[in-house]
Amino acid sequence: MSLIQLLELPIFGDGRGDLVSIEAEKHIPFQIKRVYCLFNLGEHSRGMHAHRQLQQLAFCVHGSCRFVLDDGVTREDVVLSAPTKGLLIGNLIWREMHDFTDDCVIMVLASEYFMESDYLRDYAAFIDAIRSKTA
Ligand code: TYD
Repeated sequence: MSLIQLLELPIFGDGRGDLVSIEAEKHIPFQIKRVYCLFNLGEHSRGMHAHRQLQQLAFCVHGSCRFVLDDGVTREDVVLSAPTKGLLIGNLIWREMHDFTDDCVIMVLASEYFMESDYLRDYAAFIDAIRSKTA
């Protein structure tokens, strides 16, 4: 199965413009406890970490960027460029974000409150966490 799980949301558009709506546990498989946005992005890549227990759905609501997902075995990338296309990112998935356009705005819906201890910021520690889970 591909690491890239994309969720397509319907657009409610009319002569006044477009609208897209997301409902927890209906369109996405978790309750939303946190929403954050990334903006004013430049040439520096972001992410470079995994989470022990966190599900997220990332949208590029404006502009575009490239996500890399890595489960310790496979590495895949995807370009996000529409507010209707959400990328599901589960537990123990290393993620990187690259190639931001100047106007890029990323919105992320998260299943848990922010907790620094949930982060695996070191790739070797991420691989160890996968191994100890599957052992
Ligand atoms: P981080 O998740 O490392 O950013 P990225 O993955 O986009 O590169 O977060 C950057 C900083 O912001 C870090 O000090 C933690 C802080 N932060 C919060 O306080 N709350 C949050 O919800 C998030 C996502 C980050």
